[in-house]
Amino acid sequence: MTIPDLTRQLPEAPVLPAMSRQPAAVPRPRGAYSAETARQDFPVLHRTVNGHPLVWLDNGATTQKPRQVIEALAAYYGTANSNIHRGAHTMAREATEAYEAGRAAVARFLGAPDPASIVFVRGTTEAVNLVAQSWGQDNLGPGDDILVPVLEHHSNIVPWQMVAGRTRARVVPVPLTPEGEIDRFAYEDLLSSRTRLVALSHASNVLGTVPPVREMTALAHRYGAKVLVDGAQAVAHFPVDVTELDADFYAFSGHKLFAPTGIGALYAKPEVLADMRPWQGGGNMIDSVDFGLTTFAPVPHRMEAGTGNIGGVIGLLAALDWLGSFDRDAVTAYEEGLMAYARQAMATVPGLELVGAAPERIAVLTFTLAGHDPAAVADWLDRDGIAIRAGHHCAQPALAHYGLESAARASLALYNTSEEVDRLVASLHRLQQTSG
Ligand code: ALA
Repeated sequence: MTIPDLTRQLPEAPVLPAMSRQPAAVPRPRGAYSAETARQDFPVLHRTVNGHPLVWLDNGATTQKPRQVIEALAAYYGTANSNIHRGAHTMAREATEAYEAGRAAVARFLGAPDPASIVFVRGTTEAVNLVAQSWGQDNLGPGDDILVPVLEHHSNIVPWQMVAGRTRARVVPVPLTPEGEIDRFAYEDLLSSRTRLVALSHASNVLGTVPPVREMTALAHRYGAKVLVDGAQAVAHFPVDVTELDADFYAFSGHKLFAPTGIGALYAKPEVLADMRPWQGGGNMIDSVDFGLTTFAPVPHRMEAGTGNIGGVIGLLAALDWLGSFDRDAVTAYEEGLMAYARQAMATVPGLELVGAAPERIAVLTFTLAGHDPAAVADWLDRDGIAIRAGHHCAQPALAHYGLESAARASLALYNTSEEVDRLVASLHRLQQTSG
């Protein structure tokens, strides 16, 4: 299959006004990684906010996009826009090939042997809802348990509550330790022949915890339960291999992985996906339609009703290619070092308490600051051009575990630097001095 290089077809890159002020991109050898070289690819990281150079520490909410992704989108819409899987013309074929190349790239990225095990979705939330409504509706019944650790994002709790309500299954919370790890003993105790599914995050968006997913999956499988892994916060931080994890389902969102919003992927084991009923009906997902009998396309197309986010897949493909140009282990090691530096530096701020202390973690720094509402902390930092998130982070049970309703959160990515952490910490010190 030839993959059209859509970027190369762009006659003249339609440059966004802000991009024209950026330093020219310096070609770099594949594999070389440093935060400084990575930053050069991000136009937005060179803007100012409230008169200060931007410090983007809201990567848990969404990552910024490298110019390679922006240019791939502009190239697609500027020179190659077409619907896919139908239309006997060159551009339809090109768009279809690029879309399916995106699917193959996602499969490689996740360590899935077969691209047909990848379903494109809007994001992690839609992936979980798809599994809940298709697999869950058919495989859950009265008395069945769905185990959900307390640290989960709402998108990995609420869809299970909804399907449990319809099927009379139970959602059973798995408690946390004081450090914010999943309590392994409680997990083992809760697993039983009633357990049909374990739904857990590969990395917590609020505590940063990276649970032992492979071991937890192996335990769940002993009871015949399926395991769904929410990889939304994990995929940008460390390499993932669904085959090694032996996960039955794995979901992630493109926009937390340097790709556009509105595109994500669900991996499902081929034998599991093959048995799943379509969750939405429409074009693209059928074999033939008749008022007497409608038959469905094979997977994964059966799960992708309607016109998909073709541009999003093109952007995701570019993002995976961009990320794959780095040594991922070097990225992980860098982020771990930066996180350790940030935790130490933040601990010097009077009244600052970090939330969550699991030893295995991603670079998520959730904190409270004595005397200040988290929203006021975010507002103060914003005036210094520093973007963090404040609120419940769509993980109310995880915060409630620490007696909190809300917290501030700085979340780091591969393009953040120790100078940016210094600016965060200096601004927090100033806040405490001003109000002290
Ligand atoms: N789930 C995203 C976050 O953690 C929105 O910020």
